[in-house]
Amino acid sequence: MAILWDPKLNTGIEVIDHQHQRIVAYINQLEVAKQNADKAMIGEVIEQLVDYTQSHFGFEEAMMEQAGYPFLKPHQKVHELFIRRVTDFTMRAAKGEDVVDELHLMLAKWLINHIANEDRDYAKIVLRMLTKDQPAPSAPVSEEKAHSGFLGGLLRKFFH
Ligand SMILES: [Fe+2]
Repeated sequence: MAILWDPKLNTGIEVIDHQHQRIVAYINQLEVAKQNADKAMIGEVIEQLVDYTQSHFGFEEAMMEQAGYPFLKPHQKVHELFIRRVTDFTMRAAKGEDVVDELHLMLAKWLINHIANEDRDYAKIVLRMLTKDQPAPSAPVSEEKAHSGFLGGLLRKFFH
């Protein structure tokens, strides 16, 4: 079943929420490819998803670093472990094993859990930094503001 975006998963950092939604869209695309048993599409979607997720992780890590998030190191470790798990899957697939069901399940569970927990944790600190000069500190950070500030530089660096 396709994953529907649950607003509870929003961090309040619009640019991050859009990236997370895009990752979920890739997971849903993978499910469609899987249902159609479309090998070429499966390979393509996995490649795009991994590529995009890696850029997203790089973006998040740079953002956490700038915000002085104290748990940057463990968060980076979690990202690293995830990439290693996905790489194991792609290696098994390269040897001819059919891993798509297992991979799809892992992606859906892991990423949603990560967004709901670890990412929620850094959001508080990043938002505090981003809203420092805004009149309403609890207002969500708009994409426009993010693009014009330091996040804009990071966006250009990770998603050219
Ligand atoms: Fe993360």
